[in-house]
Amino acid sequence: MADTYDYDVLIIGAGPGGYVAAIRAAQLGLRTACVESRETLGGTCLNVGCIPSKALLHGSELFEEAHGGALAKFGVKLGSVELDLPQLQAEKAKAVKELTGGIEFLFKKNKVTWLKGTAKFTGAHTVDVGGQAVTAKDIVIATGSSVTPLKGVDVDNAGGVIVDSTGGLALERVPEHMVVIGGGVIGLELGSVWRRLGAKVTVVEFLDQLLPGMDGEVRKEAAKLFKKQGMDLMLSTKVTGASVNGGKATLTLEPAAGGEATTLEADCVLVSIGRRPNVDGLAIETIGLELNKRGQIDTDHEFRTSVDGVWAIGDVIPGPMLAHKAEDEGIAVAENIAGQTGIVNHAVIPSVVYTMPEIAGVGLTEEDAKAAGEIKVGKFPMLANSRAKTNRDTDGFVKVIADAMTDRVVGVWIVASVAGTMIAEAALAMEFGATSEDIAYTCHAHPTHPEALKEAAMAVTGKPIHI
Ligand code: FAD
Ligand code: NAI
Repeated sequence: MADTYDYDVLIIGAGPGGYVAAIRAAQLGLRTACVESRETLGGTCLNVGCIPSKALLHGSELFEEAHGGALAKFGVKLGSVELDLPQLQAEKAKAVKELTGGIEFLFKKNKVTWLKGTAKFTGAHTVDVGGQAVTAKDIVIATGSSVTPLKGVDVDNAGGVIVDSTGGLALERVPEHMVVIGGGVIGLELGSVWRRLGAKVTVVEFLDQLLPGMDGEVRKEAAKLFKKQGMDLMLSTKVTGASVNGGKATLTLEPAAGGEATTLEADCVLVSIGRRPNVDGLAIETIGLELNKRGQIDTDHEFRTSVDGVWAIGDVIPGPMLAHKAEDEGIAVAENIAGQTGIVNHAVIPSVVYTMPEIAGVGLTEEDAKAAGEIKVGKFPMLANSRAKTNRDTDGFVKVIADAMTDRVVGVWIVASVAGTMIAEAALAMEFGATSEDIAYTCHAHPTHPEALKEAAMAVTGKPIHI
């Protein structure tokens, strides 16, 4: 029966969701093709997201360490320190090329066919790619997301004055004054990059606090730290319009609740107010597939849509728009299509903001955990962690939230230089259903930052040692 189709599985989109699904499907013996319209594989994440942003974050961190005297403090004496922005951008491009090329290699190795072009549904088992009909028994929509536009603030990445994240990753000079619209993950990561390289950065955020969705105490700590680093934060403020003249932008601002308008000048404006699912041009209406109120495609826990044989994963479906969430869904959907049992535990998906310090969390915020039942909370400051003290990176804390009755860990929040690495242990513990006592009695190497997680777990029962 399956042989009547060109492929067993056709995946639309080769981002972290789609390319991983394609590789796993091929590993499971299914004849697999993946349609991708970009010139390179890897989707948003590898081309214009996770990877290039982390390259710039790393490079700008090294520059700030050298320029700001952090190295001198450790006896590393330098002559004059200069920024070579073209070299930093070239190194970023090299990392992107190596990684996107790596996916192409993996496709060949696993015998996944890359169909270059844009896919459009013409039936539940048929898509059109560049005028050619391609059929498959199962089709996975993994088309990802793109930048949400802001009315009255027109992005022109080529012009370099009003940019979105893609333009903000490719600036050819350091702006004198960058205004970031939206104090979420992209705004704070890219704002940090350009601040470290010399820009004055102002973040305009509609809500009364940065980083919506994160633990309240973490959000407050983040605001304190970013202010200390020299970022200007304009909270509870909205941008109502922008004009560009002679390479400069003038923004009109208003209090979020309404009120008197003011203006703000900038030579670069980064629009980072969120992302929305990519469904335009897919013609899902031809197969009777509908979007939910947020413009996403709903699925069941096996990633089946309401149309038989059509599945969806990644940023195009509900849940956090994160690469590792998309990847895990990619593995699960392929296994489900192959008749196995693919599961993603959506209650344990870590998220990390790669600023300095890093900000990470997994599970419930303290606010949500309290609303769900009785809890106990243990906290430990990085200031009391010996490795952080030695490295002079003592900003932040670890917070462990546990169910008061069972002691089972329901959430962990970390602000620390290596929070992104530390959160993996918390995620593993939660996946295994650990109690705070399990973490507290696990031997942690000394001196390391993760000892702070152990001590925060000990603090849940009131017994940390070093504070
Ligand atoms: P995408 O990666 O968006 O891939 C979808 C692909 O489908 C695209 O390549 C697109 O061209 C293709 N496509 C769409 N429609 C069609 C069609 N009709 N035909 C053919 N091809 C099509 N997440 C993290 O976890 N960590 C990070 O550090 C991180 N940093 C980020 C930094 C930035 C600046 C941005 C913008 C995002 C970042 N993200 C990060 C989010 C992450 O990139 C996304 O969550 C992830 O890429 C989603 O994967 P996906 O496979 O669902 O979609
Ligand atoms: P976001 O949802 O993280 O933040 C957007 C911010 O803009 C919010 O704080 C929101 O309140 C604010 N906002 C919305 N409208 C506004 C307006 N008109 N004026 C002022 N502020 C306004 O979205 P962001 O930063 O664009 O990132 C998009 C997605 O990409 C996120 O969902 C994130 O998961 C993902 N991402 C993940 C990264 C990571 O894992 N490290 C890095 C970068 C992106």
